[in-house]
Amino acid sequence: MDDASFIRYLSAKKTVDDRALNRRVWDAMTARVGSLFPRVLELGGGIGTMVERAAADPVLRPRSWTLVDGQVAFVQEARRRLAGLRKFPVEFLCADVEDFIAGGIEPFDLVIANAFLDLFYPARILPKLLKLARSSGSFLFSITFDGLTALEPEVDRELDRRIVDLYHRSMDERIAAGKVSGDSRCGRHLLTLLPQTGAPDDVYLAMAREFDPAEQVALTLAIVAINGWNRLAVGFRRPVGSYVSSRHPEPATMP
Ligand SMILES: C[S@@+](CC[C@H](N)C(=O)[O-])C[C@H]1O[C@@H](n2cnc3c(N)ncnc32)[C@H](O)[C@@H]1O
Repeated sequence: MDDASFIRYLSAKKTVDDRALNRRVWDAMTARVGSLFPRVLELGGGIGTMVERAAADPVLRPRSWTLVDGQVAFVQEARRRLAGLRKFPVEFLCADVEDFIAGGIEPFDLVIANAFLDLFYPARILPKLLKLARSSGSFLFSITFDGLTALEPEVDRELDRRIVDLYHRSMDERIAAGKVSGDSRCGRHLLTLLPQTGAPDDVYLAMAREFDPAEQVALTLAIVAINGWNRLAVGFRRPVGSYVSSRHPEPATMP
């Protein structure tokens, strides 16, 4: 996609993202940092639509906003779109995120990355990102792709499946700065990076507010089961769906 088309796409998806953003997560984030005059860092900020969203929010009152994006044309468009914004100062940086992180920075109060994290392999990038906020700071990694794509209406099942496979492969095999970068199942992989995140107390408390103890146990056991099956399938090189029981060799059919 050329720059002009991508800019049109980022502009068009703003209202789609408005509806896709989890309102409860957004409200929890603004309740936590809104009145603290946070210094905000936005990674992969594109043409600045998140800044517009934040400026329209009645609770969020950033002291400053640093928008980092690797594409010159997007940063120029962000400057143009946000030229009239008077609510808080915005600093525009055209840089690769990994170079920006390597540059050494004073940690921020809030780090936002919308529709961005899946461009990286999470186990590699997350430890670096976690250093970008101060110890009691917050992160909003919203709209992270998680491998689920649906084409409706169905035209040709086999063709649809190939399109979805190619779409996911374009993420998994993406090369950025000479390295394989991107993960079509980034969202679920983020949930399992316990060694990197250390399951901090505020995450535990936020979860405990949403789910009662019985639900917490049910959810945790579901995650344990999924993790266990993944380890068996990957560890023993058994692609999901390849097992055929010797007692019931016929694949199960749906009624
Ligand atoms: C899918 S867009 C999302 C843009 C914006 N966050 C939004 O939701 O509209 C991903 C953005 O990440 C930027 N990007 C991708 N890789 C990057 C990198 N390594 N360093 C900095 N920006 C990057 C792209 O230029 C693009 O603007």
